[in-house]
Amino acid sequence: MPSKNKANTQDRLLHRKMLALWKRGESEFCEVRGSNIHGRGVYATTFIPKDTRVIEYIGEIIDKRESDRRGNSQQRKAQKNGDAAVYIFTLTKNYDLDGNVPWNIARLINHSCAPNCEACIVGRRIYIDAIRDIQPGEELSFDYGFDVDCFEEHPCRCGKPKCVGYIVGKDQWPELHKKLETRNTFSPKLPASAQQTCGTDSMDSDTIIKLPASA
Ligand SMILES: C[S@@+](CC[C@H](N)C(=O)[O-])C[C@H]1O[C@@H](n2cnc3c(N)ncnc32)[C@H](O)[C@@H]1O
Ligand SMILES: [Zn+2]
Repeated sequence: MPSKNKANTQDRLLHRKMLALWKRGESEFCEVRGSNIHGRGVYATTFIPKDTRVIEYIGEIIDKRESDRRGNSQQRKAQKNGDAAVYIFTLTKNYDLDGNVPWNIARLINHSCAPNCEACIVGRRIYIDAIRDIQPGEELSFDYGFDVDCFEEHPCRCGKPKCVGYIVGKDQWPELHKKLETRNTFSPKLPASAQQTCGTDSMDSDTIIKLPASA
């Protein structure tokens, strides 16, 4: 059993580590508010010039096996109660980052088809950077980069004029358009509003934010 002194030192170190993490997740540029897109979102509190490093997306670095385990377990929970979300980023070939920690404010940034930010991987850290000037009061957003294969499970409500209706990475939009064309040709055409509500039950079910494993 560790001595009392040793335990105290370990507690202090842990406390210091947690404080440092908390600080890393803070940002002078934004705050959390209720979102028009979904649930809570993150809003600019000040003018943010293009290329600003707005906030760090912090979390726990986990290996792929643990990442799959957490992803699957969240999916199972979601199937039961429909409200589980997973906040996992692909970090490297061997590691992911699970941002589902309370001090990670950036986990609440919603997706948009015309985002004002992007997620940048630098080594083992992820930052949310402004890709254009952002006015105070604007909601921050980035492209979740979801795969087109399960597009129907993720209707998009970003409300942008060019919204494609689903949370799908921009690089896969051509594929999405093809799929939508085929669907519209072979099935009765629904009004846009009906199409948007498609699959909302499972909307929160597997929010696995997977960036390409390029780092
Ligand atoms: C990482 S969370 C983002 C924070 C979320 N708004 C909240 O309050 O927990 C991701 C979830 O938010 C929702 N979401 C994010 N962007 C969205 C969008 N453009 N349209 C619809 N739902 C969105 C989806 O349910 C997604 O699974
Ligand atoms: Zn959209």
